[in-house]
Amino acid sequence: SKLNNIEKPTTTLAIENVHKQPFIIGVAGGAASGKTTVCDMIIQQLHDQRVVLVNQDSFYHELTEEELATVHEYNFDHPDSFDTEKLLDSMENLRHGQAVDIPNYDFKSYKNSVFPARRVNPSDVIILEGILIFHDPRVRELMNMKIFVDTDADVRLARRIRRDTVEKGRDIGVVLDQYSKFVKSAFDDFILPTKKYADIIIPRGGDNHVAIDLIVQHIRTKLGQHDLCKIYPNLYVIQSTFQI
Ligand code: CTP
Repeated sequence: SKLNNIEKPTTTLAIENVHKQPFIIGVAGGAASGKTTVCDMIIQQLHDQRVVLVNQDSFYHELTEEELATVHEYNFDHPDSFDTEKLLDSMENLRHGQAVDIPNYDFKSYKNSVFPARRVNPSDVIILEGILIFHDPRVRELMNMKIFVDTDADVRLARRIRRDTVEKGRDIGVVLDQYSKFVKSAFDDFILPTKKYADIIIPRGGDNHVAIDLIVQHIRTKLGQHDLCKIYPNLYVIQSTFQI
C-alpha cells in the first residue's frame, strides 16, 4: 500500500532532495510605464502566496567620483549601467533556496550601498522588475513568464516629469535634457526591441485590471503544477501528512 511505501528510507530521501523551484516573473517596460503598479497588483492578488519583488534598479553600478562629478552626462538607461553578473548571482541563489541581500538604490545620491541592504528570502514567486530585465538572454532564461508593460511615450514622459521633480527633487530642465539625451533613444534602441520576448504585453499598465486578473489566474494554475504531489502522484499521502 502507499502507506507502507512511504516508510521506506529511500523514499524519504527522494523527497528531501526535491527542491521546489520558484515561479519567476519578469516585468519590463519603459521608464515610468507603470511596472511597479502592475507588480503591486499581482502581489496584492497573490496575498496567500510567498511573493518577493526584486528591482533591477538595485543592481545599478556604483558611480566613480569622476562619473558623479558629471552625473548629467551619465546614461542610466543603457544596459551597461547595470551589474548584470551580480543580478544573475542573486537570482541563482534565490532559485536554489538561499536568501540574498539586495542593496537599496538611492536615486538622490546615486548610490546603491545604502545600508541596511534588503534581505530577500526564497519564495514561491519571484518578480523581477526593470526597464532592461529582458536584455540579457541569461536573465530571460530564468523567467517562467515575461510581461511587458506597454504605455504611450507621452504618458511615460508626463509621469517621469512629475516623479523626478516632485519625488526626486530634480530640476525640470535637467529632467527634460536627460529624457531627450538618453531616455528616449535608450527606449527605442534597447527596451522596445525586447518587447518581442514577452509572453504577455499589457496595454495601459496598472489601469488594465482584466490583464492582471488573467495573469494572476495563470500564476495560480502554474503554482499548482509545481506541487510535489503533481510531480510524484504516489507521494500525495506524505505531502498532506508532513506539509512539505
Ligand atoms: N534613473 C535616474 N537616476 C538614477 C538612476 C536611474 O533618473 N540615479 C532613471 C533612469 O534614467 C531610468 C529610470 O530611472 O529611466 C528607471 O526607473 P523606472 O523604470 O522609471 O522606475 P520604476 O518605478 O521601476 O518604473 P515604473 O514607473 O514603470 O513603475
